[in-house]
Amino acid sequence: MKHAALFRKIVLASAAAAACSFLFYQITAAAASKPRALSSYDPQVKQVLAQMTLDEKIGQMTQPDQSALRDPGDVENLFLGSLLSGGDSDPKEGNSLEAWTNMYDHYQERTKKTRLQIPLLYGVDAVHGHNNLLGAVIFPHDIALGCTRNPKLVEQVEKVTAAEMRASGVQWAFGPCVTVPQDIRWGRTYEGFSEDPSIVASLGEAAVKGFQGASLSDPLAVVASAKHYAGDGGTTFGTARGGRGLDQGDTRVDEATLRKIHLPGYVTAVKAGVGTIMPSYSSWNGVKCSASKRLLTEILKQELGFEGFLISDYNAIDQINPKDYKESIAVSINAGMDMAMVTNRYPQFIANLKALVNEGQVPMSRIDDAVTRILRVKFAMGLMDKGRSPLADRSIQKTFGSPEHRAVARQAVRESLVLLKNDRKTLPLSKNAVRIHVAGKSADNIGNQCGGWTIRWQGQTGAVTTGGTTILAAIKNAVSKDTQVTYSADGSGAAGATVGVVVIGERPYAEGNGDRAELSLAKEDLDAVAAMKAAGIPLVTILISGRPMVLGDTLDKSDALLAAWLPGTEGQGVADVLFGDYKPTGKLSFSWPRANGQLPINMHTAKYDPLFKVGYGLKY
Ligand code: BGC
Ligand code: BGC
Repeated sequence: MKHAALFRKIVLASAAAAACSFLFYQITAAAASKPRALSSYDPQVKQVLAQMTLDEKIGQMTQPDQSALRDPGDVENLFLGSLLSGGDSDPKEGNSLEAWTNMYDHYQERTKKTRLQIPLLYGVDAVHGHNNLLGAVIFPHDIALGCTRNPKLVEQVEKVTAAEMRASGVQWAFGPCVTVPQDIRWGRTYEGFSEDPSIVASLGEAAVKGFQGASLSDPLAVVASAKHYAGDGGTTFGTARGGRGLDQGDTRVDEATLRKIHLPGYVTAVKAGVGTIMPSYSSWNGVKCSASKRLLTEILKQELGFEGFLISDYNAIDQINPKDYKESIAVSINAGMDMAMVTNRYPQFIANLKALVNEGQVPMSRIDDAVTRILRVKFAMGLMDKGRSPLADRSIQKTFGSPEHRAVARQAVRESLVLLKNDRKTLPLSKNAVRIHVAGKSADNIGNQCGGWTIRWQGQTGAVTTGGTTILAAIKNAVSKDTQVTYSADGSGAAGATVGVVVIGERPYAEGNGDRAELSLAKEDLDAVAAMKAAGIPLVTILISGRPMVLGDTLDKSDALLAAWLPGTEGQGVADVLFGDYKPTGKLSFSWPRANGQLPINMHTAKYDPLFKVGYGLKY
């Protein structure tokens, strides 16, 4: 058999396997029932709490970044309750499943040296798959999942993510992000499912169910963290730190508006039994969320009945009063914060909190409440079960990055693409076209396709990022053996082709680095589109981006236009839609602006006249 034919046979076989395993995940996901209340573990928690010293309690409330540990012995010496790996915090051994698992086990082993032997919770930002790990399946970012409107699918996505996490031992995801971005100039827009609170409420709930499974004690489940509470997506442009942009800024709305737009995702996450919630860096009417007793204790714990624990954002407590760390700690813990992501200032955090308790500025009852909440989660997860090892179960590793897992991601890609234009039935393309010319900086670029929070905190452009199928490779896999696929990044060489496909958009970014004053396409993209157009062939434009972009005349120049968001490693899902193996079903979860002058525009703006409304999406 010729090489190409053999490859196609493999692709077809894996597509069939994909369909089967997709069904498997659908069936197993459907069995979820109402989870056990976390407070039902209080009898066991009380027994442990009664034995704990103040040092042991404060240790439980402390979460350093593992890469910031001054000495690994601090795990046992300071009775740490948790560690995290931030976006760039790989194991010292390197980045591989093996190295991550060894690292996790190493730290977990250290807790056995403590008197009470309470295992660690290990947290990571699994925001689109176990995305710090080389070889993990990278799912589309939440903005794309929002366009699927498919809670069952989102549940499966997080179920697979949880299984890939547990393969490395890690049992805590800082997700789902149930933000409701109201201004797409914000660099974290793609972390949100939608600008529409009802979509966020339904998909956020599904995500919690997927991560946490039917029970937190399931060895394949992880504890979720709904974030960033509350109103992170509602900040006013120009209120970000340094006075520019939106990230970590101030949300200036009354309480009724906050409840209507920004809280629904927390209501459903709490209903689904979410174990942890992360307060936001941002402020609400000038008060840092991490300092707000109203938000943390009165609304979340007392009114919504949240029984899990609050984890502060990365060094967020420091920002409460940048001149007085001790006061910042007092304010935050008294407001209701239960665990602090400190991350390298952990010795100061511990010393200050201890002094605050001894001085009576933080009541012991508050410490006990925080530790009770943390231990509830540890009991619920079976971590306190003496008969159960907290070390990684390496038998799960065979499913890490597996074809079954990739099939779920490929389905998520298919369902997330939104067809914005399709004149003269340009799409679907024929697999028998004589020549397809592919162009654009993101056509053969796995890094751009994955976006931020992929292997590195900020993501990275190009093939160095991780393995996966680029859109160019996917097109080559899909076409018949007689079809020629040619490629140029700049769009040259298109003349004479049957059809052109240009893949343009944003390069990776995360958080405030993605804040933009305007959302025009880059010059290199406009040039690639112009070069393709000049060839006089039908033109399909695929936009890879973390949010809607101002299209300008690219819309007119394109015969068909697909919003592909940040699809992740399974680019074959894009080709499935291009060639009609899957007919588009995606619907916009954000409003699409006509021009920069319209920003911010969303379904809640008074003069709502977008280019495409929430819910827009063409079919074949
Ligand atoms: C982000 C969070 C993230 C945390 C840990 C922060 O900068 O705001 O979303 O969970 O870092 O990496
Ligand atoms: C970490 C991220 C974190 C960010 C906060 C980075 O160094 O890798 O996880 O969100 O700092 O600013």
